[in-house]
Amino acid sequence: MGVRNFIDTSDFSKQELLDIIRLGITLKKCIDVGYYPPLLKNRSLGMIFEQSSTRTRVSFETAMEQLGGHAQYLAPGQIQLGGHESVEDTARVLSRLVDILVARVDRHQTVVDLAKYASIPVINGMSDYNHPTQEVADAITMVEHLPAGKRLEDCKVVFVGDATQVCASLCFLTTKLGMHFVQFGPQGYQLKEHHRAIAEANCQVSGGSYLITEDVDEAMQDADFVYTDVWYGLYDAELSEKERLAIFYPKYQVNQEMIAKASPQVKFMHCLPAARGEEVTDEVLDAPYSIAWDEAGNRLTAMRALLVYFLRPEEGQQFKKDAAKAELDQVLAEIM
Ligand code: CP
Repeated sequence: MGVRNFIDTSDFSKQELLDIIRLGITLKKCIDVGYYPPLLKNRSLGMIFEQSSTRTRVSFETAMEQLGGHAQYLAPGQIQLGGHESVEDTARVLSRLVDILVARVDRHQTVVDLAKYASIPVINGMSDYNHPTQEVADAITMVEHLPAGKRLEDCKVVFVGDATQVCASLCFLTTKLGMHFVQFGPQGYQLKEHHRAIAEANCQVSGGSYLITEDVDEAMQDADFVYTDVWYGLYDAELSEKERLAIFYPKYQVNQEMIAKASPQVKFMHCLPAARGEEVTDEVLDAPYSIAWDEAGNRLTAMRALLVYFLRPEEGQQFKKDAAKAELDQVLAEIM
């Protein structure tokens, strides 16, 4: 098989995504007890960012450093891309200078083109279409916070608000994993036909389901995870902030009254950054049932897994087997 890229989770099977999730959780356990496996020694990550970022940038840099590698931040104005050099030429050159690339781009086609012309793996660090590294972090966070007695496949995940790229990504991920996805959002700001076609195809394979509704009671009933994102799409300059606020507020604000309609075990998620007092209240974001901070921390868990998976696939598999064997040996030693 040639070089694989991480542009869209639709290119990956459920089992492959579960492998990445498991690898991330195993690496996290090792690092939490002070073992930093040097799986990325002498490897270099190039990080192209066309937009600002806290979580994505910092978690990639930290992940490379923790696993023995090195990351280079390539901001607008610091490299020739967007100025004198084309995407195609940039991809060819960086393929000879680093081992793997991440790109946060204004337009999805840019990261697709980078992957087309690069001879090294390219990871999508968010585009106007999707946010797949966020998906991996979200899946890990849901695994870590599963309601008692439930599997992922038993869980209902409700995204509240605008059909942002994070909403689309959550829809792709949950339906691929066999979960039950709902978007609670106003007409005109709901997932489009092409998103629904992917969700439909995923559900046919996975047994999951998806629903798009404007009815809060239908959306929230038995919800295990409630998720939201900002109302101001990074890419929508047609409406002013005041006009967009009027579309979503107050009906689509996640507040305590809305949360009370969900499962008593509900967890609240947010990709962050949040506009407190708009799409979510302080009371919800800071509640004991909010797992948004663990979710942000799991951006690092996700990046470690993705970097090992794409840079060292064989070593990543061997590492997982060794870790599983060590865990089994430990259990056997304790009970025999
Ligand atoms: N959620 C997310 O992608 O955060 P950043 O924009 O800070 O990377």
